[in-house]
This record gives sequence, structure tokens and C-alpha cells, in this order.
Amino acid sequence: MLSDEDKSKSLVLKSGEELFFAPSSAVEARLKKSGYENDLAIQSTNHSDLTAGVYEGGFKVWEGAIDLCNYLDSSVQAEEIAEKSVLELGCGAGLPGIYAAKKNAKFVSFQDFNQSVLDCFTRTNVQLNSVNLERCRFVAGDWVDCLESFEGQKYDLVLTAETIYSEASFTKLHDIIDRTLGDDGIVLIAAKLYYFGVGGSVPAFMDFVKRQGRLNVKDVWTSDTAVPRKILKLTRIR
Ligand SMILES: C[S@@+](CC[C@H](N)C(=O)[O-])C[C@H]1O[C@@H](n2cnc3c(N)ncnc32)[C@H](O)[C@@H]1O
Repeated sequence: MLSDEDKSKSLVLKSGEELFFAPSSAVEARLKKSGYENDLAIQSTNHSDLTAGVYEGGFKVWEGAIDLCNYLDSSVQAEEIAEKSVLELGCGAGLPGIYAAKKNAKFVSFQDFNQSVLDCFTRTNVQLNSVNLERCRFVAGDWVDCLESFEGQKYDLVLTAETIYSEASFTKLHDIIDRTLGDDGIVLIAAKLYYFGVGGSVPAFMDFVKRQGRLNVKDVWTSDTAVPRKILKLTRIR
């Protein structure tokens, strides 16, 4: 059940479509109510810094998620989403997955490193956008530990934003994409061109994907900003 505290903030897409998400005060209240006071992810962070292997940034809406929502809204055909199975990896707020659910995706799986993010932020946002929880699945954990949860399930559309900031995670991210992507599936990855100080970057990730030899990767969108942001599209090599 949503309470008054969950009164939402919103992201207005370029088309005027609005997506709602809970403000941090509501997330804090929900974390307390749900008994997460002692959760390491909460203790070790002010919710905007990352602590590798403990909290990976899911309590904030990052620029890449906004770019990915706008890209879905402006450049992806309705029939590429409607009735499709959708997975959002490293979802945090889950706005791209929520957008897909609102555009009649068959179902959406939301995956995040932290259970507390899924329970107290993603799930709330799904409800704030009037998406039926029965069409959603929530999977928590490190990408290497999540593979079993997706056993036997292949997705038509895999979405992920701001998840290539660390080269140390490239193998895990590539492997979970490779294991979950359907034969004709599409992956869209939103990211900054370079993550200064943490090592990840779009060129390094594209090189990595090409070296694995399993997925095609191309750059389909670039922001008009001082620090460029990109959207990459991946498909299976046939
Ligand atoms: C910077 S946040 C981005 C959140 C959201 N996609 C956005 O753009 O607003 C990075 C996300 O990647 C996920 N993540 C990073 N490393 C991960 C790992 N090793 N296993 C699972 N998830 C991971 C976390 O779930 C986290 O929410």
C-alpha cells in the first residue's frame, strides 16, 4: 500500500509523457518501516555515492535512465515493446522498465544489486505509475548470483542504464545479458562516454563486447552535452 509519504516526483519525457518516482524522504520512511535500518547498503552510503559490492547506486535516478526512457519514447516502435518480455538490469528506480510496462510489455523483470532498492524504491515506483505488480518480477543480487533466477527465461528486450562504470563488472554484465537475451532480442544500454575515476567507458565496453564474439554492438544515440552520453544497441551475432 502506498502512503502519503510516497507522494511522487516525476520525470517528464520530451513527448510530455510523465513517469513518477518516490522522493528520497519517502524512500527513507519506507526503509525504516520495512526494517532495513541495519541494511549495509543504507548504512554505508548517503544514497548517491557507490560502495562497490555493497551498494551500487540504485536509490537515485541517474541521467542514463532518463536518456533511455526518452530513447524508448522517441526511437523505439510501439510493436518492439508491446507484448514483449522485458528485463531491466541494474534497475534502481526502474523507470525504463516501468515505461515498457506502461507501453503494454507482456511482463517486466526488474533486477537490482540490493533487495532494499527493489523493496523500497522500484516496487513503489511501479505502483506510483499504476502498473499492475502481477506483471512484474523483482530479482535482487550480484549479476553472477542471479543467473539461476533467470534459468529458462529469455527476454525480447533487455534494458540497462549506468551499469558500465566499472571494467571489473564487464564480464558479469555481458554474461547475464548473453544468458537472458532471446535469439531475436534487443539490448539497449545507456551510459556516459567515460566514467572518470572509476574506469568504465563506452569504448572499453564496446571493445570488450566485440572481443567476446557473441553480440553485435553499435552506438545509436549521443547526447548533445559537454560530457557525452550514449545509447548502445546490442543484438545476437547469427
Ligand atoms: C549507477 S546505478 C544506476 C541505476 C539506474 N539504472 C539508473 O540509471 O538510475 C547502477 C546499478 O547497477 C547495478 N549493479 C552494478 N553492479 C552490479 C552487479 N555486480 N550486480 C548486480 N547489479 C549491479 C545496481 O543494481 C545499481 O542499481
